Amino acid sequence: MYKKNKYLKYNSYLVIVLTKDRIGIMYFSSSCAMYICTQCEYSSVLKMWKCPSCWSFWSFVEDASRPSKKQKKEADSRHVVWAWHVLKKSDVTIESTFYPLQNKEIQRVLQAWIKRGWVYLLAWAPWIGKSTLILQILEDLGRHLGVSVAYFSWEEQASEVIARRKRLFSDTISGSAQVFHAPSFEDIVATATSLQSTCIVVDSIQTVYSQDIQAAPWSVQQVKRCAEKLSEFGKKNNVTVFIIWHITKWGDIAWPKYLEHIVDVVLHIEWDRFGETRFLRTQKNRFWHTDDVGIFEMTLFGLQPVTNLTERLLKHVDTSVAWTVLTIWLDNGRPVMAHVEVLLTKTYGKYPSRTCVWVDNKRVDIICAVLTKYCNLKLAQFDVYIHVPWEFKFFDSWLDIAIAAAIYGHYHGHMFDPKAVRIGEIWLTWKVQQTRRHPKRKNEIPKGFHCIDYEVCERVQLLSGL
Ligand code: TYD
Ligand code: MG
Repeated sequence: MYKKNKYLKYNSYLVIVLTKDRIGIMYFSSSCAMYICTQCEYSSVLKMWKCPSCWSFWSFVEDASRPSKKQKKEADSRHVVWAWHVLKKSDVTIESTFYPLQNKEIQRVLQAWIKRGWVYLLAWAPWIGKSTLILQILEDLGRHLGVSVAYFSWEEQASEVIARRKRLFSDTISGSAQVFHAPSFEDIVATATSLQSTCIVVDSIQTVYSQDIQAAPWSVQQVKRCAEKLSEFGKKNNVTVFIIWHITKWGDIAWPKYLEHIVDVVLHIEWDRFGETRFLRTQKNRFWHTDDVGIFEMTLFGLQPVTNLTERLLKHVDTSVAWTVLTIWLDNGRPVMAHVEVLLTKTYGKYPSRTCVWVDNKRVDIICAVLTKYCNLKLAQFDVYIHVPWEFKFFDSWLDIAIAAAIYGHYHGHMFDPKAVRIGEIWLTWKVQQTRRHPKRKNEIPKGFHCIDYEVCERVQLLSGL
């Protein structure tokens, strides 16, 4: 409806109104009033009755943050002097209060400690175990002297949180954690200040509202501003803040893109396709790498670490058949043993089909093309079915050689060495490439198994029944 025009003054707007029989043009300079939707922060020069972005009614108010004509004039006449501040060694004070964690899987992801004054954002679907995970982290923190935790929950009653905590950790609860049923930002800050808390948990941020913010409770603007204020409070007072967030019904994190900028660590807890295993990943960590994943199982006693993934896999795999090949896959930097199953059947349609479950279809097309071209496999006569019967999505190109070997083995009826693990990426020139973090993958290979990669043998031998 309105546009910025390069021929107009900077920050001015041209509004073109189209009616049935006429066109109207209106010009607004930057000092004219802007209106902002209190629900989603959509801004417009027109005070609309219905927001075109979030479709809420009567939600537009004048944007008070925009300067008036007079204020703008004053600001223009002022000279802004930029001063360079040279950082000297003595200027930088590093506050180093770290709380070590004991849970091995949480340690992997959070580098073994929680730091005082950091802001953590934990997000994902309801019922996945966010509150349980936070309780377990708090249990770890509670062991340290001088940690006083204030847990603010609105979705669950304080008594429910306390009962769950007692059930999970029986009477061994150490440290002090107090649970409150409070959705008001002002109450949260006042309580945390009066208790001199060193760590606060807000479960969840969607339910928090501040009276100072001109927007309905639970609206996007409330959530954004409250999170911003909480982060500011944590940083100023050296208080660790855990903010819990939900995802939308479409499965993505709708609003916190902005929040991701203001917090220090963004944690995701996701589940596998059966909902049995939980994966804890860091999407952002301001002070460390985000290259690991924590794997948990939800049990009667909360989230328990899963450390024997490879043994669990090998128990169920029959590697004595021609179409099953072992490989090592990396999930967010963590090596995990996996196996690929392939089935070839005669094509009865016009074109052969390639059906893949949890594997990238396009990569399989490439592998089939390379095998047809360089290894004389007549794959045009076969439908190819590929399945990785495990809990992850495999979009990793390093499975290439395992997939190719399984197809090749099935085609020629080769029996594989059941103790062989194949790793490698295939290029279109039939070059087998070293994998990303090859040594890390090799280290994951259990005792009694051996690695077959480009270092050990030639290209075609990689596929044969070694
Ligand atoms: P919860 O932490 O409340 O999820 P969120 O905060 O993400 O909504 O976890 C709820 C689920 O976890 C629920 O389906 C029950 C299950 N659960 C267990 O199986 N065992 C347990 O010990 C706990 C505490 C929860
Ligand atoms: Mg919860």
